[in-house]
Amino acid sequence: MASYFEKLQALQAHAHAPYSHFQVAAILVLKDGTEVRGVNVENASFGGTICAERSAFVSAVSQTGKVDQFAAIHLLAGKGEQFVMPCGMCRQVMSEFVGSDFPVYLYNTQGASRTVTMGELLPFAFSQADL
Ligand code: THU
Repeated sequence: MASYFEKLQALQAHAHAPYSHFQVAAILVLKDGTEVRGVNVENASFGGTICAERSAFVSAVSQTGKVDQFAAIHLLAGKGEQFVMPCGMCRQVMSEFVGSDFPVYLYNTQGASRTVTMGELLPFAFSQADL
């Protein structure tokens, strides 16, 4: 069975990144083991671009109608030994649906991985409780 890294490598080819040429792949794993894929989809009107992480979450909510079934996300982007971190907007969107212990598995192009949690990525998040 393919590893998450191998699946992410294949998924990067689905990214639509003709402007940045920066391909990002995300596999969002649900609590029942379902894997929902996301890639960055850029647009000639640059603000229309959506990141891979948000693509995956939007797809998962669209496909399942559930917002409380997220177990982990695996991400691959960048070059060399670098680990690319989710952007601020993706951190905010992810925090809507996951707790502070939610694991974010980052892979570099060598296949090495490191794990960070949602709470580490976005402490003191703005949330529904603030409204
Ligand atoms: N991008 C992502 O997909 N996820 C991130 O967390 C950071 C940035 C995409 C957006 C754009 O298509 C490209 O990477 C360069 O910013």
